[in-house]
Amino acid sequence: MSDYLAQRTRCIDASGIRKVFALAASLKDPVNFSIGQPDFDVPEPIKQAAVRAIVEGQNQYSQTAGNERLLDKIREKVRTDTNWEAPLCMATSGVSGGLLLAFMSLINPGDEVLVTDPYFVMYKHLVSLLGGRCVFVDSYPDFKLPAEKMAAAITEKTKLIILNSPANPTGSVYTEQEARAVAELAKKHDLIVISDEIYEDFCYDGLNPCFGRFYEKTLLLKGFSKRSAMTGWRIGYAACSPALAALMESMNMIQQYTFVCAPTPFQVATITALEFDISEYVEQYRRKRDRMVEGLKDSYQVVKPGGAFYMFVQKPEWAQNATEFVKIAIENNMLIIPGNVFSEKDTHFRISYATADEKIEQGIEILRKLARK
Ligand SMILES: Cc1ncc(COP(=O)(O)O)c(C=O)c1O
Repeated sequence: MSDYLAQRTRCIDASGIRKVFALAASLKDPVNFSIGQPDFDVPEPIKQAAVRAIVEGQNQYSQTAGNERLLDKIREKVRTDTNWEAPLCMATSGVSGGLLLAFMSLINPGDEVLVTDPYFVMYKHLVSLLGGRCVFVDSYPDFKLPAEKMAAAITEKTKLIILNSPANPTGSVYTEQEARAVAELAKKHDLIVISDEIYEDFCYDGLNPCFGRFYEKTLLLKGFSKRSAMTGWRIGYAACSPALAALMESMNMIQQYTFVCAPTPFQVATITALEFDISEYVEQYRRKRDRMVEGLKDSYQVVKPGGAFYMFVQKPEWAQNATEFVKIAIENNMLIIPGNVFSEKDTHFRISYATADEKIEQGIEILRKLARK
């Protein structure tokens, strides 16, 4: 690490995932179970809407909070999702942009942030970058929302709770009962909840319970990277009730001096994305989920995921840790991610089944063989 870099750069360690990709670089046509984005392209009407927006000249900065027509649509959706009468909303540069703005607005050095483990990798590193500290609450082995353990982890330094349902990397979808228990806890200690619901559309056994229904001081982060496969377009949104008006104001202020606005033509195309029915894609992914579970359940300890497009599977006993298992999987032409990228433990590996059915069949065969090794 060069000594001219700021101290904060030392808080981030991306080496785990980089090592996996370095090992994988030489593979030819591997079974790639490592990808965190849909395997379909942006649906045609949404692409056309983006092209139209560019050709018609909607290429300038938008308002900091976003295009008014898009915000109207988002407000309408958030009202339905949450029952908040007058939600406050802004368009962000992906959910990642929303996370950064929210953390910058909320976290003071030394603040503690409750996160269930396993977790989406960005939370840990962004919180550290800002001088905060993630307090990890173990949700193994079933990945349910562990309200009692969360209660035990709260201290006077706890500032906020991050939730993610459907979850990356486990595919877990919280039940309404679990969500209500955490809402009670947050209320009792007057904590802010950030609920990352980027995978809300990919739910296979019923709807995702939007956390805004249960708790007023929730910042909802949602996006279009997964729903519409537009990961490169960088569109998401943040929404809250008037109870968090100061937070939304601060996020807008920081957006003004950082991202400026989310990409304008893609904001316009997102109006079409909001209206586009993706149930056919969700049905395809439900079938992929079912096939993966069926294919692996006799060889591995599998928790059936309710959503997203991931499974978090325990390594076989013969492997010392997940990293060792992943190395051997790569030698067998299959790419998966070791659990320690998403967890303080290294006992599981993440599979993304957002890939072709043929690759899923090949992958199941390789994994079954490796379980018996
Ligand atoms: C749980 C979760 N949150 C946020 C993101 C970031 O998404 P975006 O492309 O909207 O920044 C991802 C992407 O993988 C994710 O899995």
